[in-house]
Amino acid sequence: MALWGGRFETGPDSLFKALNDSLRFDYRLALEDLDGSLGWASAIHKAGVLTDEEHRSLAQSIRDLRAAVERDPQLPLISGTQAGDEDIHSWVERTLIERVGDLARKLHTGRSRNDQVATDLRLWTRRAIDDRLAELLACRRSLINLASRELETIIPGYTHLQRAQPVLMAHWCLAYEQMFARDSARLANARAGVNVCPLGSGALAGTAYPIDRAALAADLGFDRCSSNSLDAVSDRDFVAETLAACAITGVHLSRLGEDLIIYGSQEFAFFEFHDSVSSGSSLMPQKKNPDSAELLRGKCGRIAGDLVALLTTLKGLPLAYNKDLQEDKEPLFDAMDHLSLCLRVTPRILDTLTVRRGTCLGAAEGGYSNATDLADYLVSKGVAFRHAHDIVGAAVRHAISKSVPLGSLPLADLRAFSDRIGPDVFDRISIERGLRSREVTGGTGREAVAAALARARAELESAG
Ligand code: ARG
Repeated sequence: MALWGGRFETGPDSLFKALNDSLRFDYRLALEDLDGSLGWASAIHKAGVLTDEEHRSLAQSIRDLRAAVERDPQLPLISGTQAGDEDIHSWVERTLIERVGDLARKLHTGRSRNDQVATDLRLWTRRAIDDRLAELLACRRSLINLASRELETIIPGYTHLQRAQPVLMAHWCLAYEQMFARDSARLANARAGVNVCPLGSGALAGTAYPIDRAALAADLGFDRCSSNSLDAVSDRDFVAETLAACAITGVHLSRLGEDLIIYGSQEFAFFEFHDSVSSGSSLMPQKKNPDSAELLRGKCGRIAGDLVALLTTLKGLPLAYNKDLQEDKEPLFDAMDHLSLCLRVTPRILDTLTVRRGTCLGAAEGGYSNATDLADYLVSKGVAFRHAHDIVGAAVRHAISKSVPLGSLPLADLRAFSDRIGPDVFDRISIERGLRSREVTGGTGREAVAAALARARAELESAG
């Protein structure tokens, strides 16, 4: 059913209709459209547009339809496509008319699809954010659990993907936990921008009916109603902020994915993925591929793309509503769908991950990652750091030529580089000693990490 045929002599061209119709994707707003309609019915009832009896029966039919959609979310898509409905708003109106007759034709009094769709999308986004926040909490919980399991495990820390200094694996886990904690804060912040009610803005100038907009906003669970009708029907910065938060989360997931892939490769062999999150090769029988982590890494492109698509759509739009704005939904839905999948798979990867602790330790011991500790040792013996740096560089070159770690060089070899080196050097350049010297807040010392873990756990408990 078209909502606007009266002025027209002909119906829409079929190709134009294919371009213009949005039911194909906006059927996903059905519940929100019905919730918004229920709120609107009560607002126009209070404004004297509907009698008590009319309101009662209209509200009941909206609730019945809502229950039908809850039972079968595809209902609007299937029945609306058959009927040729332009969008979800057309489907709701036509279906209500079929159910309660002419009374349903009063529902749209004082309302426009412009304030209606902005309201629906805000309701949808609010719920999607709440779902992502719960999923982020689950990811954080998995990282914290992995950190607890691997509290003793030492891995090499990298810069430039070259072994740099040993770190606790728990420290690595908590680095990602911090990223996800900030992602949650960004999404929660976006939610506050989302939670404003545009309904009552009409097409662009404000509704001509005496609607109590503050009461309507409260009724729909919004924090407040919007302050400017032109802005309310035409801006989508609340979607942009949400997508920006999603895109950054996607970037973090991609980094986690990459670390998992590298550390899980046969070259590193720190981790092994569980079969349940791995795939095989159709050709090479021996292969077990980390596809789950690769998709954590790979999905980030489309989520960032969704943000760019939306921003590009919004750029240069004249006030107020323009049909371009219909293009806001698919990027949002796409980003949320794929982010959700990634966030839900992440705990499964982490919870089932096998960590090869011996291999990790061996790698942390190799690569001369205690060279800084040797320089610090020399500093403690009165050598200036820059000088110490040179001495240790030469000692490392020597150790490389003999293919041994620094700590395996005989004392005499070490003393050839500096006579300040004494027998206490071996303890001072051990990994344990290196960790012990990094108990600064935020450092990888065992106590510092245990404290960070306790803080992360407490924060998680209070958040969820
Ligand atoms: N399907 C439209 C959208 O998503 C609904 C609003 C249509 N408004 C209009 N004035 N044609 O934006």
